[in-house]
Amino acid sequence: MDHRRPDRDSRRGDLPLLGTHGGLGCITPRFNIGLVATWRLLIYGFARLTAIPSEETRMHIESARPTAARFWIPSEAARLVGMKIHADLRSDTITLPSEAMKHAMLEAELGDDVLGDEPTVLKLQDAVADLFGKEAACFVPSGTMANQAAIRAHTQPGDEIVTHRDNHIYLYESGAWAAISGCSIRLLDGAGGQFSAEDVEAAVQHKDAHFPNSALLVAENTHNRGGGTIWPMERTEAVTAMARRHGMRCHLDGARIWNACAATGIEPAEYARCFDTVSACFSKGLGCPVGSIVAGDRESIHRVHRIRKLLGGTMRQSGMLAAACLHAMEHNRARLADDHRRARRLADAIVDIPGLEPGPAPVETNIVYFDVPGEADGFSERLDAAGIRMFAVGPRTMRAVLNLMVDDDGIDRTIEVLRTLV
Ligand SMILES: Cc1ncc(COP(=O)(O)O)c(C=O)c1O
Repeated sequence: MDHRRPDRDSRRGDLPLLGTHGGLGCITPRFNIGLVATWRLLIYGFARLTAIPSEETRMHIESARPTAARFWIPSEAARLVGMKIHADLRSDTITLPSEAMKHAMLEAELGDDVLGDEPTVLKLQDAVADLFGKEAACFVPSGTMANQAAIRAHTQPGDEIVTHRDNHIYLYESGAWAAISGCSIRLLDGAGGQFSAEDVEAAVQHKDAHFPNSALLVAENTHNRGGGTIWPMERTEAVTAMARRHGMRCHLDGARIWNACAATGIEPAEYARCFDTVSACFSKGLGCPVGSIVAGDRESIHRVHRIRKLLGGTMRQSGMLAAACLHAMEHNRARLADDHRRARRLADAIVDIPGLEPGPAPVETNIVYFDVPGEADGFSERLDAAGIRMFAVGPRTMRAVLNLMVDDDGIDRTIEVLRTLV
């Protein structure tokens, strides 16, 4: 009997053991329960020890420095050992596509996007360009590629980018602004990930051959590390007007621009009019499995399209993904208000729990930061054991991100667990 071939010689109900030597090929059903339990425990332990960190986890590990490295329990391992997750608040990227979204994906009309005849991608790009009041748009696999393709489209090697020190493009995109675009970066400060027109003016380099050319301003709205904060319209206008006065181009990292629009009622085109290009993600609050986009003037998007190719980001029958994005734009934008309402409920409860300290920024959208007594790492592990998942993002700081997988009961349970843990 070949023990590596589970389909051969194993009796119904028996558990085939892969790759064993000797006579342990099959065992009786009586021992199966114990063996399955042991097997699950082994997988669980193995998964804990070998967990390959996701993009978000890596972001978390980066932001958690200099706290000690830890291992994270992947959801699959939690499922195998039967742990119930009441609320997964690690990120708004953890969402799974709904049945209706999957149906839209299956029904999508398809072509070949590299050959330029992918009808659903073309439809999405046109719809998003219209929504942002821009001439064109380019569908890309990720928010990182959207930002970095835009940066490359607006700059030459040796140019300088002006941005906030807590912006995603600087902290969490693998230094791509240097690696892909060959730029230097000038970092600004300011509460909630925002800076002023005066900050921009002070950061601009003299037009002298000694200095890098200040070429591009990048803002992030809503601001992730700032606490999901929304850039006020007047400030957005002032900083971008100042950048233009100095001959700079402007890019908006609008990964969560949908949240800003849902919270303020301001149209996407209104925010976008201040910028040459805007990136937006479908794979965060809108709940798609994959997909981001860059919208802008025709010339910039033509360059983004070339850079997407250079970065290996072209896709073929990507209409299946674009269909999910179109579905999400129609069905999931208005419901972001529910995430915001639940985030505020959680934040209000945190104020009333002795020992917990709310983050510095008021909760305006779906992100809640708070400090815990003692080590955030340990707190996160205790939350995890109670079926509530959140990232520790600093020595004492936790982050909860509301998303479409967390309902009112999930928030009730989260508040209950927080009360018992401190
Ligand atoms: C503000 C912001 N921009 C860009 C990104 C990058 O998106 P992606 O993970 O799709 O590369 C993220 C991801 O969390 C983000 O929060």
